[in-house]
Amino acid sequence: MKIKFPLMIAVLSWALFSCQPTVKKSADSIDAKVDSIVSLMTLEEKIGQLTLFTSDMDQTGAFIRKEYEEDIKQGRVGSIFNAYGAEYTRKLQKMAVENTRMKIPLLFGYDVIHGHRTIFPMPLAEAASWDLEIIEKSARIAAIEATAEGLHWTFAPMADVSFDPRWGRIIEGAGEDTYLASLISAARVKGFQGDNLSDLNTLVACVKHFAAYGASQAGRDYHSVDMSERMLREVYLPPYKAALDAGAMTVMTSFNDLNGIPATASKYLMTEILRDEWGFEGFIVTDYTSIMELMYHGVAADTLEASLLSINAGVDIDMQAGFYNTALTRLVETKQVDEELINIAVRRILKVKYLLGLFDDPYRYSSTEREATEIMTPEFIETARDVARKSIVLLKNENQLLPIDPATKTIAVIGPLSESRRDLIGSWSAAGDWAKSVTLLEGIKARVPNARILHAQGCDIDGKSKDGFAQAIAAARQADVVVLALGEAYWMSGEAASRSDIGLPGVQQQLAEAIHATGKPVVAVLMNGRPLTINWLDENIPAILQTWFLGTTTGNAIADVLFGDYNPSGKLPVTFPKNVGQIPIHYNMKNTGRPFDANNKYTTKYLDVSNEPLYPFGFGLSYTTFAYDEIELSKSSIGLEETLTVSINVANTGDFDGEEVVQMYIRDKVASVSRPVKELKGFKKINLKKGESQKVSFEIGLEALSFYRADMSFGAEKGDFEVMIGGSSVDTKSASFSLK
Ligand code: GLC
Repeated sequence: MKIKFPLMIAVLSWALFSCQPTVKKSADSIDAKVDSIVSLMTLEEKIGQLTLFTSDMDQTGAFIRKEYEEDIKQGRVGSIFNAYGAEYTRKLQKMAVENTRMKIPLLFGYDVIHGHRTIFPMPLAEAASWDLEIIEKSARIAAIEATAEGLHWTFAPMADVSFDPRWGRIIEGAGEDTYLASLISAARVKGFQGDNLSDLNTLVACVKHFAAYGASQAGRDYHSVDMSERMLREVYLPPYKAALDAGAMTVMTSFNDLNGIPATASKYLMTEILRDEWGFEGFIVTDYTSIMELMYHGVAADTLEASLLSINAGVDIDMQAGFYNTALTRLVETKQVDEELINIAVRRILKVKYLLGLFDDPYRYSSTEREATEIMTPEFIETARDVARKSIVLLKNENQLLPIDPATKTIAVIGPLSESRRDLIGSWSAAGDWAKSVTLLEGIKARVPNARILHAQGCDIDGKSKDGFAQAIAAARQADVVVLALGEAYWMSGEAASRSDIGLPGVQQQLAEAIHATGKPVVAVLMNGRPLTINWLDENIPAILQTWFLGTTTGNAIADVLFGDYNPSGKLPVTFPKNVGQIPIHYNMKNTGRPFDANNKYTTKYLDVSNEPLYPFGFGLSYTTFAYDEIELSKSSIGLEETLTVSINVANTGDFDGEEVVQMYIRDKVASVSRPVKELKGFKKINLKKGESQKVSFEIGLEALSFYRADMSFGAEKGDFEVMIGGSSVDTKSASFSLK
């Protein structure tokens, strides 16, 4: 039912906003103005603000509702996603502002996950840099480019901890460790949002997927999650909280059910934890059609019941299901939902629009001038290349095969990823143009223009044909060194891309064996979206670089490392298992009551594989070597109010300048619950010239010793602790101290 509304009041309310200076607005003035808008809105108009539809410019879910432009004109939608570009967003914005009674501007959202036009390394790759500064810078540049193309809101950072590499979305997060993922999630929020959302180049962040999506059963995407509250609070919740503490203004619900309750219907998650415990004041949006999926979960029989569950759980915006649009009016009319609940949701959303300055000027982000000058600038490209090379992890380098001498005469570049362009920018590549990415072959040719470069694809990423082997073998035979590019296609990780076998796809293993059989020195360059069980490569190939999907500048960044212009410094943010049977496997496991003992049958082990991973969390080699002295403690015990300083001298004992991620782990030896054998509680990335050494110190306080105790209270317990420091989670020096 359309209520005719005196134009004068609408103009007055509009005037109330448009005369405001675009300065940082005080909270009360925003609340007051938002309240006055809500008081003028009809129920139908309010419900429209609770709906988010995708445009048909990009597709990120099962279906698209074609009539979204009519929805905009009729006020049935308050936000649009998958639409960008100054012209297009201006066009859609005009539809909302000029056709609806209240003229409330649209919010434009998009999955700007690792860059917008300039594509940076996938998030898991960036996490391998352990460099919070460049991770924040990467998000900052993404925000500049996205807002230059009319966007206000990104569905990032993804803060889902995961230690199951079968799960394709492990690539979208920051790996297996809670502490590292918390710091990285916060850095990404700061990069996206800057320090003032009314700045033209700041983007509203959306921390996702709340919650514990990374624990999907058997690594199968969208599958159920079941865990203890202790595991939830200890391992999975902190990165979301860190993102919110960094100021993230929005949260996205996860597809999974948690302990039987789908997140999108979970009052425990969306209200009791997010709002009551954490004080979150932004708005909550579902994931793609998640409200509708409550019916598939079997907790709702129809649209009404699904909508009732979600709005009562505290979910503000319905992404793509359109259920709120069809059900909330009825639920309010039949008094199953109090209209005030709708008002609260609308206020949260309008407040974000207000903070973005959209009420001052709805078109302020749809600027063709910025589009022309702030996209893929040389500075952005150079930064992306720096982030990319710092994300590379050197897994093996027998007899210092790497770096390759740039004077090498003949280099064979072989493999299905040697000339790939599309795969390099990975999944969730937003407006990235893969045609502009630099291939590995191009990067090598550019770096050593005088070398004779032989190229052969050898095989497809995922095919069975070995027809290309002969040409590849012939190329290898003529070369002084072979660069062998292996891995996954971009679509083999990311959403809906779980794999039950995480080995090299297709006949790549056989290609590697054939090239190895030529006897030529081989450098394997891995491009993949998850840990792979590359045991044979580890046993037979002398040098292995883990390069993930590095984005637009891939070929140049890898060449920087291959030829020694940059000494690799990456460390694994996720464990590489020896086989799928070991999963879940992560560095911070429990000791068990029967810790492995080779001399005792009755201890925890497998009959067919060791308990150790192929490569552990925190592992990564360098072209140089680092030596760690013994740990020095400022004291042997601390009281509850004291901090302990632990220091260690690190020396660069090799022939290259290099960076080292010095990692600090703690073990609580005896506590009211069993504790992991170690937990990352600090790290510092240092730069040492060859021959140089540096003293690295960490402060240990109560926070680092705290956990969810037997009674589920959070805090530390007196007793003995072990502190371990090293260049990975397994190669450490240790010392003991106690909390008195
Ligand atoms: C997708 C993803 C989510 C993304 C959303 C919008 O299904 O699960 O990460 O932000 O839909 O594209």
